[in-house]
Amino acid sequence: MKKSLIIGTPLSPSAIKVMLLGSGELGKEVIIALQRLGIETIAVDRYPHAPGHQVAHRAHVINMADGAALRELVESEQPQFIVPEIEAIDTAMLAEIEHMGMARVIPTARAVQLTMHREGIRCLAAETLGLPTSPYAFASSLEELRMAIEDSIGYPCLVKPVMSSSGKGQSKINGAEEVEAAWNYAASGSRVNQGRVIVEGFIDFDYEITQLTVRAMSANGEVETHFCEPIGHIQINGDYVESWQPQVMPALALQRARHIAREITGNLGGLGIFGVELFVRGEEVWFSEVSPRPHDTGLVTMCSQVQNEFELHARAILGLAVNIALRAPGASAVIYGQLEEQGIAFAGVDEALRVPQSDLRLFGKPESFANRRMGVALANGEDTAEARIRAKLAASCIVPIKMSVKSEQCK
Ligand SMILES: Nc1ncnc2c1ncn2[C@@H]1O[C@H](COP(=O)(O)OP(=O)(O)O)[C@@H](O)[C@H]1O
Ligand SMILES: [Mg+2]
Repeated sequence: MKKSLIIGTPLSPSAIKVMLLGSGELGKEVIIALQRLGIETIAVDRYPHAPGHQVAHRAHVINMADGAALRELVESEQPQFIVPEIEAIDTAMLAEIEHMGMARVIPTARAVQLTMHREGIRCLAAETLGLPTSPYAFASSLEELRMAIEDSIGYPCLVKPVMSSSGKGQSKINGAEEVEAAWNYAASGSRVNQGRVIVEGFIDFDYEITQLTVRAMSANGEVETHFCEPIGHIQINGDYVESWQPQVMPALALQRARHIAREITGNLGGLGIFGVELFVRGEEVWFSEVSPRPHDTGLVTMCSQVQNEFELHARAILGLAVNIALRAPGASAVIYGQLEEQGIAFAGVDEALRVPQSDLRLFGKPESFANRRMGVALANGEDTAEARIRAKLAASCIVPIKMSVKSEQCK
């Protein structure tokens, strides 16, 4: 039989403590979900006043890629759980922390290690598990890249640094004359300048989805896999701009998507939510990549599910029951900073919230960049078409403005 969880009191010796490594908008929502269950939360990020810092019991600023700093913080805070929200972490140190039994790493240190590196996860998916993926090759020099494309991958193809996220350093190339620029761009966008890239054949998909997949404990203490309704989304330059749930798809394609999701998450193991990214054309489905944590396109679940992806993650981590039911068709639309400025303000909030069945999250990021995600508009509708129109309308009402302009308006 399963051991029933006992939750103590935050800020007392009986507390269950969870440390978030990375405290952006996704971590912030996980923290809120944990707080609601009476968990003591510790938010860590590389800069002060990160979104999650603003809602946690304690906030720390460290470089999480610095293993010694990470270990020191874990030793002083002694959390029972460590929940990575970003990829730029010293994962070897996470493995050591897990191995020494200092804390449980969510979902597992191995899963975090494999998924932060395109080579690790692609080889696991395609070679070990035999899942369908785009054709791919790895290259450590411009010459190797040229050869890989000429010999096997062909055009068009995509070049990506093996360690990067949100489309950084990624480019699509259509012919031999573009290879050198793509190689140089990948080197500039890599998180760790390893000078290694993956080149993938371009999949001309009808649409792409995120299959949120939850590994949670059953009443009998066995790990069960739950599948949320598929989330459709649109990416521009490798960054998500719009998502909706449910994405309608043929029964066979959905079955294949879930088979892939079960295989990959089953291998990665542990408890929690995963965002399995898949490409769909007709009834064909390709595995693209997987996040062992809430997914940005899953922000839509804050309006479309009974329990959003952050609540599902919080519950699954703690070994609690989850409910993946859809509440209503919904959509999300990203709000960008548009300005390069500290402490910006947002006009048009009232107008946005007057859009029927709409809602808003402003993340509270201290610094805006033109393409930085500063908030998201959410909306429900009769169907996802209506929800998408509403979410985009609500997002378009929000106008980022300079603080100096705002203070003039208030005079
Ligand atoms: N092989 C591919 N064929 C077609 N589109 C792709 C391919 N790889 C990536 N993309 C597009 O680029 C987006 C970002 O790529 P992804 O590998 O998910 O990078 P990131 O880790 O930065 O999210 C995908 O969501 C998809 O829209
Ligand atoms: Mg992706």
